[in-house]
Amino acid sequence: MGPSTDFLGRDVVSARDFKREQFERILRATEDLEKHRGSLDGTLKGKLAALLFFEPSTRTYSSFQIASEKLGMKVTGFAGPTGSSITKGETLHDTVKMFEGYGADIFVVRHSKMGAARFAAEITDKPVISAGDGSREHPTQAMVDLHAIRKAFGKIDGLKVGMLGDLRYGRTSSSLAYALSNFDVEITFIAPEALQMRPEVSLLLKQRGVTPKKEKALKDVAGKLDVLYVTRIQKERIPDPTEFEKVKGMYEVNLEALRDAKPSLKVLHPLPRVDELATEVDGTDYAQYFVQAAGGLPLRMVLMNLILGGGN
Ligand code: NCD
Repeated sequence: MGPSTDFLGRDVVSARDFKREQFERILRATEDLEKHRGSLDGTLKGKLAALLFFEPSTRTYSSFQIASEKLGMKVTGFAGPTGSSITKGETLHDTVKMFEGYGADIFVVRHSKMGAARFAAEITDKPVISAGDGSREHPTQAMVDLHAIRKAFGKIDGLKVGMLGDLRYGRTSSSLAYALSNFDVEITFIAPEALQMRPEVSLLLKQRGVTPKKEKALKDVAGKLDVLYVTRIQKERIPDPTEFEKVKGMYEVNLEALRDAKPSLKVLHPLPRVDELATEVDGTDYAQYFVQAAGGLPLRMVLMNLILGGGN
């Protein structure tokens, strides 16, 4: 995988900004890395990655951290609001400028405000990768999700994908929907009205020729799907707590809910799960979510290596 002008020095702030060929390039390289066709260990030796996580994170932070270290980079920054000066009110702007002064070569930013990653990208010339901004986007998670789908089916075209849960406030679903709109897929948004996908997402999908269907209940579509993407209700992002009370516990994906599912169905979840996905699914062939999470490491290695031109 030689340096690519498509990726060299670029920001990753929205899944809308990537074309099919670019997603495919990342997916192919991730598959190669997983199959040990080549290694990226140490390709970015001497570089510094600043991971600025203004919101809590488990998988995304640690996969970026391990990926950076395997690439040979040093890692600085913080994994959440505690343990940093954010609690004293330090701004995103000042934080980025400061780490730039320390010699950061790449930024990975997670923030509760929408547009935060775009803003960070505007104030530094170094590449910025969004690790989630507000309820809008989580582009690298979408890449991880595509990888998990391709790993299960060997393809993305021709699949029927259902997205279930908090599509309105969950940033992973909108990014995945944008990413999937580059492929020949059928998308169904399954959510109660209050949590249905935001109109601007559906609009962009339609413009790209993928008209999403909408359903309220999983049982009406369960038998038709190839992929079921389950998401958590974003309690912390729903503005009105009484709204949360109304929707919490409205759905739970368990074996009973999957009674009519095709045997080949794959269930994905960006994790963390709360009570929307029963642990009894874990031991079945439907469960693809731990494979999905594991893909986050090689994929983020590939992405940072392409952006920083590490070669191999
Ligand atoms: C998600 C996130 O932070 O948006 N987690 C992740 O990165 N895998 C999903 C969530 O918090 O529900």
